Amino acid sequence: MGRVQDKIAIVTGGATGIGRATARRLAEEGALVTITDRNVEAGQAVAAELPGNAAFIAQDVRLEDDWKALMAAVTERHGRLDILVNNAGILATGPSQDLEATDLEQWRAVQAVNAEGVFLGCHHGIGAMKAGGGSIINLSSIAGLIGTPHLAAYGASKGAVRQLSKSVAVYCGRKGYGIRCNSVHPGIIRTDMGDQVMGLGGGDPQANWESRIGLVPLGEAGEAVDVANCILFLASDEARHVTGAELVVDGGMTAI
Ligand SMILES: NC(=O)c1ccc[n+]([C@@H]2O[C@H](COP(=O)([O-])OP(=O)(O)OC[C@H]3O[C@@H](n4cnc5c(N)ncnc54)[C@H](O)[C@@H]3O)[C@@H](O)[C@H]2O)c1
Repeated sequence: MGRVQDKIAIVTGGATGIGRATARRLAEEGALVTITDRNVEAGQAVAAELPGNAAFIAQDVRLEDDWKALMAAVTERHGRLDILVNNAGILATGPSQDLEATDLEQWRAVQAVNAEGVFLGCHHGIGAMKAGGGSIINLSSIAGLIGTPHLAAYGASKGAVRQLSKSVAVYCGRKGYGIRCNSVHPGIIRTDMGDQVMGLGGGDPQANWESRIGLVPLGEAGEAVDVANCILFLASDEARHVTGAELVVDGGMTAI
C-alpha cells in the first residue's frame, strides 16, 4: 500500500526538474498521475517512464481554456481529483531581472506563469475537488519569503503564491470542502532552473554554484527529489491536519 495509493494527481510542469521528481514519487507511492507541461516531447517521455498508468496532457498554465480542458479530461477519466501540484514556473524572461532592468513586459510575463497560473490552478482545482476533498500544493520559493533585488518579478510572483495558498486553505477549510492547501519553498535546487539562477548576472556558473552553496548551512544544494518528498508528504493523508502552512526546503538558508 503506497502513501498516496489510488489517489488521482495532477503535476503541472512535470516534464523536468522538481515536477518530474514529484510525479515519480507520487506514482511510486501508488497515485495515478497526470503530468502537464508546455514541453510536449519531454512530458510524454516522463509519463512513459513512470510506474503506474501515468498520462501526459499538453498545457500552458497561463491559459484558462487549457485548465478547463485538463480538469474535464482528468475527471472524465478518473471521476475525481485528489492532488494538484501547481509546480510549473519560470524564473525570468531576460538575462537580468534586477529592479532597474525589469520592464513591464518582463514583469507581466513572470506573473502570468507563476502567479496567474497558480491562481487558475487553484480556482479550477477547487471545482474539481470540492465534492470529495483533496490536497493542493503550490510551488513558491525562498524568494517568496525574503527580498530578491536581482529577481524582482520572480520574488513578487512567489510571494503571491505564498499568500494565495493561505487564502485557499482558509476558504476551503471554512467551506467544509475537505481541501487542504500548502505552499512549498525550495532554496537552491539542482534543476534547469537552478542552473539558470547561477547563470544570471554573469560570472562562471560553476563558481556561482559554489559560492551560493556556501550560504547553505547543510553545505550542499538540494536535489529535486528532496522537494518531491516534501510535496509527497503534503499530498498524503499523513498531512491531514496541515493546511495554510509553508514548508521550507532550503538546507537552512533562511534560518540564518
Ligand atoms: N530549482 C530551484 O532552485 C527552485 C527554487 C525555488 C523554487 N522553485 C520552483 O519550483 C518549481 C519547479 O522548478 P524547477 O527548478 O523544476 O524548474 P524547471 O525549469 O526545471 O521546470 C519547470 C517546468 O515548468 C514548465 N513550464 C514553464 N512554463 C510553463 C507554462 N506556461 N505552462 C506549462 N508548463 C510550463 C517547463 O516547461 C518546465 O518543464 C517552479 O515553480 C520554481 O519556481 C525552484
